[in-house]
Amino acid sequence: MGAMGRLCARIFLVLLPPSAVSLCLEDGVPEQNRRYLSDTAASADESRTPIRMVMYDWGSAEMASTLTHILVTEHFGYHAVMNQQRTLGSFDGVLELAGCTTEDCSQRYAESHIAMECWMSEIPFQFARFAAEHPDKVPFDLGSIGYFGENSLSVRGAVRDDAYFTSGLSLEFYKSYNTTLHHPKLFFDSITDLDINDFAPCNTTGNNFANDVEMRAYGRWTGDWDGLEETESGYIAKCSDGSAGKSDVFGLEEIPILNKRL
Ligand SMILES: *[C@@H]1O[C@H](CO)[C@@H](O)[C@H](O)[C@H]1NC(C)=O
Ligand SMILES: *[C@@H]1O[C@H](CO)[C@@H](O)[C@H](O)[C@H]1NC(C)=O
Repeated sequence: MGAMGRLCARIFLVLLPPSAVSLCLEDGVPEQNRRYLSDTAASADESRTPIRMVMYDWGSAEMASTLTHILVTEHFGYHAVMNQQRTLGSFDGVLELAGCTTEDCSQRYAESHIAMECWMSEIPFQFARFAAEHPDKVPFDLGSIGYFGENSLSVRGAVRDDAYFTSGLSLEFYKSYNTTLHHPKLFFDSITDLDINDFAPCNTTGNNFANDVEMRAYGRWTGDWDGLEETESGYIAKCSDGSAGKSDVFGLEEIPILNKRL
């Protein structure tokens, strides 16, 4: 049965003429009329390049990238492909645009051409450093695409009420998280409830915890110099076992965690 299904599917695909592929726009450029980029630096085989698009791994980026893909292919009439591998962080997309595996750019691969929803405000230090070190490879920041986003921490109403009605602790006020006076962690899961495999070692290059500029700023604002370690490459977060997770770096022992409760 399974084999039959596969065979049928194959015949169906072979018989399907290209023009039957549905277009999104009424006057969209059909696939067979689209152009490739000509990459004069590439070999003859690779000189016809589709536009390669970074696909960030979050919903709003998926939407912006999908819309852009439709415009690039159907309105501007270029072949375009989404990168198969989802991109986890804004700066990783910058590296894809530069065609570099790592920040030092020691290994190259075919660069991508477009990344939608690259949150530049999250990566100002890394981007500036990369631009200074690789001025010939750094991608252009073409500016805002017209909407704003905000990162914030939220506490669910049920958790907030639980804390307030059982012990008078107001989790909506940041001063309540002073662990000399209160134990907010009683109302949350613990760091040990998280799967340690989901964490990257905090000394990973490119990670904010290994970013000297950001860690100095952290030390200055919080006074928590004990949570930092001075290394040859500058300040990094102190992580006793290499991962920001099990250790009590940044007072993680007391930082409330919501795990699988949402
Ligand atoms: C936390 O509470 C203690 C005890 O009242 C106080 O000495 C300390 O200044 C408070 N810390 C902050 C950051 O407010
Ligand atoms: C990160 O720390 C681990 C041990 O904590 C060490 O083995 C590793 O070499 C370090 N990696 C970098 C990039 O510094």
